[in-house]
Amino acid sequence: MAPHMTTEWNADAYHRVSDPQFTWGMVVLARVIFAGDETVIDAGCGSGRVSAELAARVPRGRVIGLDRSRQMASAARETARRHAAANLHVVVADLSAFPVAQRADLVFSTATFHWILDHDALFAEIHHALAPGGRLVAQCGGAGNLARIHARAHAMMQSREWSAHFASWREPWEFASAETTTARLRRAGFGHIQAWLEPAPTAFVDGHAFATFTATVVLRPHLACLPTDAMRAQFVGELTEQFAADDPPFVLDYVRLNISATRAPTVVR
Ligand SMILES: C[S@@+](CC[C@H](N)C(=O)[O-])C[C@H]1O[C@@H](n2cnc3c(N)ncnc32)[C@H](O)[C@@H]1O
Repeated sequence: MAPHMTTEWNADAYHRVSDPQFTWGMVVLARVIFAGDETVIDAGCGSGRVSAELAARVPRGRVIGLDRSRQMASAARETARRHAAANLHVVVADLSAFPVAQRADLVFSTATFHWILDHDALFAEIHHALAPGGRLVAQCGGAGNLARIHARAHAMMQSREWSAHFASWREPWEFASAETTTARLRRAGFGHIQAWLEPAPTAFVDGHAFATFTATVVLRPHLACLPTDAMRAQFVGELTEQFAADDPPFVLDYVRLNISATRAPTVVR
């Protein structure tokens, strides 16, 4: 598997199909009370749909959208331009180790952390990027996320027809529990920690919508292992048929992990 295939996204397709992520992002955003002048990092900004909303909430502040995908970063810059969000700046960077020009009042992140395997390193990096008293508000896939499609894909990957292409397969996600996440955040130095799981089953209107979405988001790492467009279409098609036979059909069993935590303020003596 070429490394860039798992790092890169089809940003145009993601921008079009990411209504579930945008909807979740807006719910998480509604949890934050803004003064309007904050410096905010959107960690894993994707194509910038949620970042533009963040930027509108800090008209006297700024949002730094970080993403390691160049395609996503370029799409996010385009989104900023369309929204006339002059205070949204997009930087290509890996969240496992990213530059901090100015400490942030808020690190916000949705639908991203589960794509990063080492959450201890991630939380340490975010803690470092926050100003004293700064807050982390995030949501990502949590324990049990997408269990059905991953199990079905796994069964196919072990079959005689597909197994040769998945010989070097390693699961590229970390779906952590609330308890594990709380312990990791504490180790990174955070206080006022809240972490909780939330089922978010998501239904698609038909096989086309299901196939387009899963090919762009959920099955992106699997499809990166397959050498031709025809094979990728066949893999997605076979899974789509399995979900068509469910009652109700075309439902993804998303489970979201919500996170809120604070970097301790500096104590004046
Ligand atoms: C599903 S998208 C979510 C985008 C956006 N936050 C949203 O809610 O629509 C996940 C994003 O995380 C980014 N990402 C994954 N791992 C990353 C890492 N280690 N460093 C920076 N970005 C990462 C991907 O490139 C992708 O743009």
